[in-house]
Amino acid sequence: MTTGTPTVPPLTDRVCSEPFRLFFPVGVLLGWIGVGHWLLYGVGLTESYSCFRHGLLQTQAFLMAFAVGFLWTALPRRIAAPLASGREIALALAALLLTGAALVVDAFVAAELGYLALFTLLLAFAVRRARAGTVQRRPPAAFVLLPLAALLGVSGALLILARLVLDAPPWTIALGALFIQQGVFLCLVMGIGALVLPLIGGTPPPPDLFSSPRETRVAWAFLALGVTVAASLVAESLGAVRGAPIVRGVAVALALAVGGGAYRLPRRTGLHRKLVWLAAWLAPAGLVASGLLPDFRVPALHVLFIGGFSLMAFGVATHVSLGHLGLADAALGRPKPVVVLAAGILLALLARVAADTSHTYFEHLASAALCWMIGTGVWLAWLAPRFVRR
Ligand code: HEM
Repeated sequence: MTTGTPTVPPLTDRVCSEPFRLFFPVGVLLGWIGVGHWLLYGVGLTESYSCFRHGLLQTQAFLMAFAVGFLWTALPRRIAAPLASGREIALALAALLLTGAALVVDAFVAAELGYLALFTLLLAFAVRRARAGTVQRRPPAAFVLLPLAALLGVSGALLILARLVLDAPPWTIALGALFIQQGVFLCLVMGIGALVLPLIGGTPPPPDLFSSPRETRVAWAFLALGVTVAASLVAESLGAVRGAPIVRGVAVALALAVGGGAYRLPRRTGLHRKLVWLAAWLAPAGLVASGLLPDFRVPALHVLFIGGFSLMAFGVATHVSLGHLGLADAALGRPKPVVVLAAGILLALLARVAADTSHTYFEHLASAALCWMIGTGVWLAWLAPRFVRR
């Protein structure tokens, strides 16, 4: 007998259909562990800190969780392919948690193995759907950068493992870290940005790959920019600490401004849209600044890490969440939690950049971490109940 009441799919089905409901909150928690490091050290609750651990936690755990949440939600819909299965979701979650937990206890070999497992799962996800012939539509041209991101991630982990396990020369770990901390996400930001920036900005989405000779040329152009980014990372590890980041910044700016349309402001209203647009410019700005001011390299790079990568991750996550959770009005407005998110991330950026010129370095780091955690915490507290609900 039907009651007329629509049946609510169980939470596991909703997570398979919309994996962001699980991976975005997990990403926030992993991000807190990564930046919380500086807060705990600043207030004297821990006696040591590790820059290497922090950098890898942010890029191999926090950002990867957001990438999986976005890709496994958006990709099956865009290419009309089957959604993620419960097994795929469980394995990806396990790989992410293994990577994060291993980094926390400085078990770097286990962490790299967890990270490699995650890329294997991402690859298997795409290959399984392509081989089963269940893909009914091609992705946009810029998605040629996704395999390149995976190649950089896998090579980066193997280079780090070569140093840790086989005692390879020190350049291997330095280049591996560059591939992971910058290469993977620069390729993802350029590739995904070309799809997301028009969608968020209110302009037509990009056509499918190979749908016309023009789109084939566009794909080659994106690939050339991705290869430029990868080559500049190798050049930087060989000593080109000024020129290489500048070239990389120009390549990223071209991909996002011309390829993604970031040369103009979003046409639609909605604070998160402006945040994504701002992140698209802060990413290349941080790279260029790190090349112009090599003595100020790490703080300048945080314009990329905090203002580019983390702001972009939360801006896009806001768009995906509001769209899927039926909060269309909020997507056109300025919801207070998004204002707090923006303020928290931008204050964190200012405090992180100011730290190196201050006499209170660790106090500045702790304040930056606190601002970032408050901003992202308010955002999570706003959306988390909706992630669980139907
Ligand atoms: C919000 C507060 C943050 C603080 C206080 C902070 C602080 C730091 C510090 C002190 C270092 C090491 C500097 C050194 O080697 O001398 C560092 C490195 C790094 N941070 Fe952060 N960070 C923050 C946020 C982030 C975020 C959100 C990301 C990524 C999305 C990130 C990614 C990295 C990476 C990849 C490195 C390694 C850079 C390199 O050595 O090339 N950080 N951070």
